[in-house]
Amino acid sequence: MRVLVCGGAGYIGSHMVRMLLAAGHQVVVFDNLSTGHSLAAEPASLVVGDLLDVPLLETLLTTQHFDAVVHFCARSLVGESVSEPYAYYENNVIGTLNLLKAMRAAKINKLVFSSTAAIFGDPESELIAESHPVRPINPYGSSKAMVERMLMDAARAYGLCSVALRYFNAAGADPSGEIGESHEPETHLIPNVLRAALDGRNTLKVFGHDYATRDGTCVRDYIHVNDLASAHTKAIEFMANHEGAHQFNLGNGRGFTVMEVIEAARRVTGVRVPFEYAPRRAGDPPVLVASNAKAREQLDWSPTFTEIEAIIESAWRWHQNPRF
Ligand code: UFG
Repeated sequence: MRVLVCGGAGYIGSHMVRMLLAAGHQVVVFDNLSTGHSLAAEPASLVVGDLLDVPLLETLLTTQHFDAVVHFCARSLVGESVSEPYAYYENNVIGTLNLLKAMRAAKINKLVFSSTAAIFGDPESELIAESHPVRPINPYGSSKAMVERMLMDAARAYGLCSVALRYFNAAGADPSGEIGESHEPETHLIPNVLRAALDGRNTLKVFGHDYATRDGTCVRDYIHVNDLASAHTKAIEFMANHEGAHQFNLGNGRGFTVMEVIEAARRVTGVRVPFEYAPRRAGDPPVLVASNAKAREQLDWSPTFTEIEAIIESAWRWHQNPRF
């Protein structure tokens, strides 16, 4: 298969590229390198460009043949989306609309889309199934929910076949140590814990310890980046015999508090990370845990990194020796 991976130089996209290449597919990466790294996209061929550049996008899709598109390009920081909403709607919604129109013109009708747990807003239940209401509480979540809506409309109007994968907390790195998570600034918990463990002088801030959880800190469902990538492969296979727009929640189905992550990191690294309690971070729901039953049943997918220590260990290998 020939697959276009938009955002393939980013954290999750680059793990997807490796997996597709290892399975024998041909891969072209389209990425504006705003947060991605060209080294991460190797050894796929890389087209540097932006989804807002319509002529470039149309030329790429009409002059090359692709069987499917996997779309990771997005701005994805909740806090930034609150202060810069236009940038989020422009990149995530208009950028995706441009991609969908170019796909239609080029008669490509299979898309796997990166969605997020942020579409659920403040969850009504601890375990979130696909039937949970979609009620985003920040522009990032809204932008992803809008695209999910566009995909449903496009299925009806144009026969577009799509799978939206709603990631919970992506974490870890490829066991090869060649690619991993590299954001600047870094806002995510596990990289910040590991950077503090490496540095020794950095004090980790724990945002809020007065939540109604077992130790007062937020609970999240951490899912290994290669398990996310394998779900995309399963989604491509799924589209071979399923029409329409589909949605799946992707997590391990188990939640860990911030303090439990710090403790698991101590077991993995041998370093007791210094931390201090800080005020709650705006927009953080207390608990976010996925029900992954639908993905298990319908995609025939299951996570392989089921232990938090194994996820952190793979990230630790990367953070000790990052290539980019
Ligand atoms: N946290 C800290 N200290 C840090 C970093 C994070 O205490 O230095 C806490 C956060 O407050 C939160 C938990 O650790 O309670 C996890 O935070 P992350 O930033 O790692 O992840 P989020 O749950 O905020 O974000 C993830 C995805 C987003 C998505 C969101 C949905 O990365 O893309 O889930 O709510 F939008």
